[in-house]
Amino acid sequence: MAAAPFARFANADLEEITSTRPTPFYAHDLDGMHAAAADLVASFGNAPHLVAYAVKANSSASVLRTLVAGGAGADVVSGAELELALRVGIAPSSIVFSGVAKTDAEIDRALGAGIASIHVESIEEIARVAARARSLSVRAQVSIRVNPSLAKEAIATHAHVATGHDEAKFGVLADDMPFAFEALAREADAIDAVGVSAHVGSQLTEVEPYVASAAALMTIAQEFRRRFASTMRLVDTGGGFGIDYGSGCPVTPGDFIRAARPLLDRAGLGDLRHVIEPGRCLVAPYVVLVSRVVQTKASPSKPELRWLLVDAGMNDLLRPALYQANHRVAVISGGSGPLRPWRVVGPVCESSDDFGLHALPEEPPRIVCFRDAGAYGYTMASRYNGRALPGELFLRGGVVVHEVGRASDASWVSERLGA
Ligand code: LLP
Repeated sequence: MAAAPFARFANADLEEITSTRPTPFYAHDLDGMHAAAADLVASFGNAPHLVAYAVKANSSASVLRTLVAGGAGADVVSGAELELALRVGIAPSSIVFSGVAKTDAEIDRALGAGIASIHVESIEEIARVAARARSLSVRAQVSIRVNPSLAKEAIATHAHVATGHDEAKFGVLADDMPFAFEALAREADAIDAVGVSAHVGSQLTEVEPYVASAAALMTIAQEFRRRFASTMRLVDTGGGFGIDYGSGCPVTPGDFIRAARPLLDRAGLGDLRHVIEPGRCLVAPYVVLVSRVVQTKASPSKPELRWLLVDAGMNDLLRPALYQANHRVAVISGGSGPLRPWRVVGPVCESSDDFGLHALPEEPPRIVCFRDAGAYGYTMASRYNGRALPGELFLRGGVVVHEVGRASDASWVSERLGA
């Protein structure tokens, strides 16, 4: 595939921006994110809803504030994410908290803040949350995350990000829900049973698995309402809306909502708050990871072997190494001549530090970027090989409104010297 010209991004000149900064860094288009959140919110029409943005995808405060301005709340999966969401000013009533192994301290923080729902993921967790609520003298707002037990093959995505099948550690199996109902009833002195949730998998590029999961959830939600009519307030059909990483994605995030909404209405649950937990689709397409080319490497005896060595590695963007994900590489500056296949690799000492084969100019570029890097990019970065975390830069209206520079090597050295 031809390299797209990418000198301009978010109405800004990336070459000029990069000229005075160390690489690699993530550049964020906050306007694009704001519009994506507002669009998704609008797809609910007048229906009661909460677009609970999955903070794990990209946890920069600038991103969170932007999405909240677009109408989103938050889905958090740790005490730290919860604290961050509260500190950027997200209303507790717009926060839900999932996670299979929440500690007592995390549960206490959620109870203290009075968030919309603690999504419990096991029958055992129900008693733990109730005990913490009693000891804090508060009532817990609890939903059950249901594992809809779909067949693995029905969840068309990478195995590492498929969650709605029996072997996944997530949620309470649909077949076990009677036991969860009993536990909720037993703890009724401390728990308000507020709803049910499901999340079937991530990077879904068709609505079918989402609809199948939502359909299984509705049957359970109806039973939930029969038992807990006075406290039930929400049905959460999860996130997972895919984006186009270059090989196509025929559906938009709004298509998932338009496919799932009628299921709530038909089940007589349309008056409840319809919660969704999108992460990727609100941030991924609006961020690039900018990287300088360090040098080329060729084999004189095997001319088909040609590497483009860049200064970003798997520690900066893990998705290709972990999921064989492809992030398109675009040229920001330099490069001329016909396009040739280059294997683009980073500096990390692992064979999997490999961004794949990309068609780039014969005379190689000086600066490139990896596209669609806004979700699970910086948040999965590490300091492996003594590498500093990448910088982060935020654009609004074509100008840099905030930035955090790439950390120095010296800071890593002094941290390790102290260990
Ligand atoms: N809700 C729950 C309970 C989740 O587990 C997830 C993602 C989401 C919502 C948000 O899903 P999204 O809308 O972003 O697909 N690191 C992987 C993705 C891991 C997803 C984990 N859970 C990647 O880079 O593809």
